[in-house]
Amino acid sequence: MKDFKKLDLIPNVIYETIVSTYNKNNTPNAAPMGIKIDKRKNVLISPFTSSQTYKNLDEQKCGVINITTDPLVFLKTAFKENDSIKLLQSWFIEAKCVNAPKLKNVNAHIEFCVIEKEMESNNRARFICKTKFIDVVNQITPIYCRAYFAVIESIIHSTRIKMYIEQKNTEMANRLKKLVYHYYDITKKISPNTVHMEIMDQLLELIDKWEEKIRSES
Ligand SMILES: Cc1cc2nc3c(=O)[nH]c(=O)nc-3n(C[C@H](O)[C@H](O)[C@H](O)COP(=O)(O)O)c2cc1C
Repeated sequence: MKDFKKLDLIPNVIYETIVSTYNKNNTPNAAPMGIKIDKRKNVLISPFTSSQTYKNLDEQKCGVINITTDPLVFLKTAFKENDSIKLLQSWFIEAKCVNAPKLKNVNAHIEFCVIEKEMESNNRARFICKTKFIDVVNQITPIYCRAYFAVIESIIHSTRIKMYIEQKNTEMANRLKKLVYHYYDITKKISPNTVHMEIMDQLLELIDKWEEKIRSES
């Protein structure tokens, strides 16, 4: 099954996942990595060239994207070099279609092969990958994406901004506006040209309107 439909991924949105690969000595490695799909359904992964994931993808030319919402998996795979955090070999099993390990107990796996590597200016590489197999264990698979969080937070803040503007509490309104601008920048980076950005643009327009109304009344 190579169908992205069950995962409901929006092209060009960055999703936070765990990428697992084999090291040179055949031991498994895993690390949190943002991934996105392009319009041709290729998967894009951009590891720093200093990371083990970069080296492994460059050498092995394949890996697995593990989809989970368990923050512990993110913690353990991000900080595995710490003595207190152990990334156990027993967490992994063999992937089905590529020469890579995959994590047990996650929501879904995307097994892929690297078809192209591009070097970017900021010490990152971009691997363009072709999906070989998708295995959705849980039908409903929420994937970490900072844009969802950013947008919801902004909507909640905006309801308060409206209230503070109406109360002429400029200090509190400005404090929350700063947060919305911050989330705006995050959303623009994480989820450009999507409904997330449409909502963010609408929120900024609304805030302008509320401020203009108060100005015209005074
Ligand atoms: C949610 C999340 C997303 C991340 N995305 C990336 C990424 O896209 N590229 C990258 O190089 N590092 C990313 N990191 C940092 C790496 O996971 C971290 O540096 C890790 O230790 C690299 O492990 P490795 O050397 O085994 O590849 C991310 C970390 C987190 C927590």
